[in-house]
Amino acid sequence: MKIAVVGATGLVGTKMLEVLAERDFPVTELIPVASERSAGKKVLFRGKEYTVVTPQRAIELKPQVALFSAGAGTSDEWAPKFAAAGCRVVDNSSRWRMEQGIKLIVPEVNGNTLTDSDMIIANPNCSTIQMVVALNLLHTNFKLRRIIVSTYQSVTGSGIKGINQLTNERAANFQADTKGETSSSAYPYQIDMNLIPQIDLFLENGYTKEEMKMVNETKKIMGDESIAVSATTVRVPVVGGHSESVNAEFEKPFELKDILRILKESPGVVLSDEKSETPYPMPLFAQNRDEVFVGRVRRDLSCENAINMWVVSDNLRKGAATNAVQIAELFL
Ligand code: A2P
Repeated sequence: MKIAVVGATGLVGTKMLEVLAERDFPVTELIPVASERSAGKKVLFRGKEYTVVTPQRAIELKPQVALFSAGAGTSDEWAPKFAAAGCRVVDNSSRWRMEQGIKLIVPEVNGNTLTDSDMIIANPNCSTIQMVVALNLLHTNFKLRRIIVSTYQSVTGSGIKGINQLTNERAANFQADTKGETSSSAYPYQIDMNLIPQIDLFLENGYTKEEMKMVNETKKIMGDESIAVSATTVRVPVVGGHSESVNAEFEKPFELKDILRILKESPGVVLSDEKSETPYPMPLFAQNRDEVFVGRVRRDLSCENAINMWVVSDNLRKGAATNAVQIAELFL
């Protein structure tokens, strides 16, 4: 397959290249795409150098599949143009996710709904992906009524700017020798030695866009508008991945042992317990892995038919690049 990666110089785009190579995706020709600023730069893929081109040039090169991770503005402008040229687009931005007629896909959950006529396919928000992978089979068995989720999200979710801000602040705070590359900030407040209970912009209802993404995308992916979702999303000074405290209430009663068994059987899920490498999942250990790690599973003592659990995954991998490549694999 001739494949374009739009945003190939960014954090997620770089991960996409890594994941394509690792999973032996049959790439016959790679077209790395970025803004005018980066045209002519080289990126490395499977030990070979490729020249970065602009989106317009990429369309002329006629890719069959394009993985987009260059922001919602770029997706808004360019995804329809790629699709019109006969190229299937997997879009990691928020632009097309809630658009009617566009599928929002997590392969383990609703990959079977993809059809030949889908030209633009949306990749969900990173926090939503790991949550629905963990909850999918539990929903099938016990029917979700309500989810209350609080997130602890890595700075890698803000691209290179997020990492740079944390690195710069840490260097300044500890007077270390290493300094980040730029001084431009990703967040309105210091993130090192802090946390920020705001991800993306505030909406009129008092929630942030990130929180409402978790609410709306969960219903769309699971194909069930009746699932109630309440989210609080928080940025923390962590690099490895996103963590989530998930409280899930089900309509049907359950035995905890059945919840554990189903989680163990769930595709893409690793259940952490006393016998695992670590007794519960942590972002440092999830980094560069594709699985969704689940631990601290316990009955909610305050609510009938509800559980609490802790869900961790590398937001750049399963939360973005790996999920996008898995969608592209469905085209094969
Ligand atoms: P560039 O490096 O030329 O700015 P991140 O999320 O890590 O900041 O990365 C964003 C990615 O999106 C980068 O590869 C960036 O390219 C790319 N990008 C930004 N704006 C455009 C655009 N208008 N057209 C194509 N790619 C873009």
